[in-house]
Amino acid sequence: MKVLAICGSLRAASYNRSLLRTAAELAPAGMEVEMAEIRGIPVFDEDLEKEGMPEAVAELRLRAKAADGLLIGCPEYNYGIAGPLKNAVDWLSRPHGEPRTPFINRPVAILGASMSLIGTARAQAQLRQTLQGCGALTMPSPEVYVIRAQDKFDAEGKLTDQQTRDAVGRLMAAFGTWIARLKG
Ligand SMILES: Cc1cc2nc3c(=O)[nH]c(=O)nc-3n(C[C@H](O)[C@H](O)[C@H](O)COP(=O)(O)O)c2cc1C
Repeated sequence: MKVLAICGSLRAASYNRSLLRTAAELAPAGMEVEMAEIRGIPVFDEDLEKEGMPEAVAELRLRAKAADGLLIGCPEYNYGIAGPLKNAVDWLSRPHGEPRTPFINRPVAILGASMSLIGTARAQAQLRQTLQGCGALTMPSPEVYVIRAQDKFDAEGKLTDQQTRDAVGRLMAAFGTWIARLKG
């Protein structure tokens, strides 16, 4: 099965991208994880949408639709979903009413890393609600909230904390089961 891992941060040294790479590394047998970026996606504007789907959106949309499941690395900004990620989700949820957007009935899993002691819990809760609005089938548990990310990754972006690695591995195993169950 194919999973597209969408990084919700644009930052070159993003902890969330490193977390997604770890998830790819720990994916169960039979699951292939590809990385995707949201760089280049313009700020959503219905007038711009009328001119046609921007290239960066069209490309991400195609890749998302071709995947069996989406894995989203969710940063937290000011107690909520980081703007670039929400913007990307809004684009992917379009056109409104279209029965085959990349989210409709698609299995999704969320995980996130932040520098505080909250580990993106607030942003992930908001993202769950948004994905519900998009018609996605978001896996309810297990959840992964990486707190104090600056202590958990080394300078090369390797997740060095074993407990957190185990939690990511459990999430990926459960996501494999979630996808298989929803497909069957
Ligand atoms: C504008 C802004 C607001 C932030 N607000 C929060 C916050 O509410 N909660 C939190 O845990 N971290 C917050 N942070 C810190 C982020 O956790 C940190 O920048 C993290 O590295 C972002 O994810 P990334 O490494 O994937 O880019 C904020 C950072 C920025 C730039």
